[in-house]
Amino acid sequence: MTVRIRPHLLDLPSYRAGRRPSQVAVGNAVKLSSNESPFPLLPGVAESISAAAGELNRYPDPNQGALRDVIAEDLGVDASQVVVAGGTLALFGPLLQCVVAEGDEVVFAWRTFEAPVTATAILGGRPVLVPLRDWRHDLAAMADAVTERTRAVVVCNPNNPTGTVVKNGEARQFLDRIPPDTLVLFDEAYVDFVTDPDVPDGVELLRAGYENVASLRTFSKAQGLAGLRVGYCVTSERLAAVLTRLVPVFSVSRLAQAGAVASMSPEASKEKTARLQLTTSERERVSTRLREAGIGVPASQGNFVWLPVGESSAELAGKLEAEGVIARAYPPDGVRVTIGLPEENDAFLAAATPLLREKSHP
Ligand SMILES: Cc1ncc(COP(=O)(O)O)c(C=O)c1O
Repeated sequence: MTVRIRPHLLDLPSYRAGRRPSQVAVGNAVKLSSNESPFPLLPGVAESISAAAGELNRYPDPNQGALRDVIAEDLGVDASQVVVAGGTLALFGPLLQCVVAEGDEVVFAWRTFEAPVTATAILGGRPVLVPLRDWRHDLAAMADAVTERTRAVVVCNPNNPTGTVVKNGEARQFLDRIPPDTLVLFDEAYVDFVTDPDVPDGVELLRAGYENVASLRTFSKAQGLAGLRVGYCVTSERLAAVLTRLVPVFSVSRLAQAGAVASMSPEASKEKTARLQLTTSERERVSTRLREAGIGVPASQGNFVWLPVGESSAELAGKLEAEGVIARAYPPDGVRVTIGLPEENDAFLAAATPLLREKSHP
């Protein structure tokens, strides 16, 4: 007898991680496939993690008190509105579980980050995918797609993999059309890279009175702690109280809590700001160079750029890889390339520009 697995779980897609240099044939390949930070740990982080290592025989703080306090203070919210987990990837499931039952609908833009789509399918929910328009969320069409079965709408802002954003006015108009008992999940993994002042932020919207908003954020990107696994949700106190019970206790390790707190110190924050400036100016430089090579790169507000090369995305990523640059293909739509250190970006541009000039892409 084989174990009776719930049928809807049999065909779930696996998480697709970016390829690593050890997986490619070229030596010293540049890894621009996972939107990671290219920088070393922020000042003070390694020391705090080492100090915490001495107490690994003890369970970590189950309430992540110190970490939740610094996050809450930074964002001007109450600590009771903050729920921490082992990365935002560990929050999609529990957060959706708060509202989605078998057969319920969750509205997404497509293409977007796949993880919450899969989390919806795991719960037996039905993802409703609304095509991007000009690589941006079509918020009006997403609001139109809401039915009485809809329990959540997910807005990835900036959107992975296209880097595009929703603007303040359209976000508020959209929220005004969504029933107030329907969760609106803003996936804001890249919020720190936003330089456009007209881009709303989930926490701001929550504070403005949209109590059905939840903002998901991470220490993996701007703080450069992808390997440590810390993400958090900021939402209403009521929803946070329920979500807290669904996140496995002790899943944020002592090392993770200590490292994340240290990454928010004034000294670390100052360095983080300098690195963000470098990354966002590199993003503009790379985007301009790609446009000069004839490719219609949409304006990105993340730490990555989107090359809308359509059907040739797998081929382009393969050719870049042969040149020692690992990017991420999303066939049949495009290729996403992370902004790295200036010399890594130069390596990418040197490999990509002749390839892009070979063909004219839409
Ligand atoms: C939009 C988006 N959300 C969430 C995540 C996952 O973040 P974490 O490392 O906190 O699990 C990513 C990772 O690339 C992402 O692109």
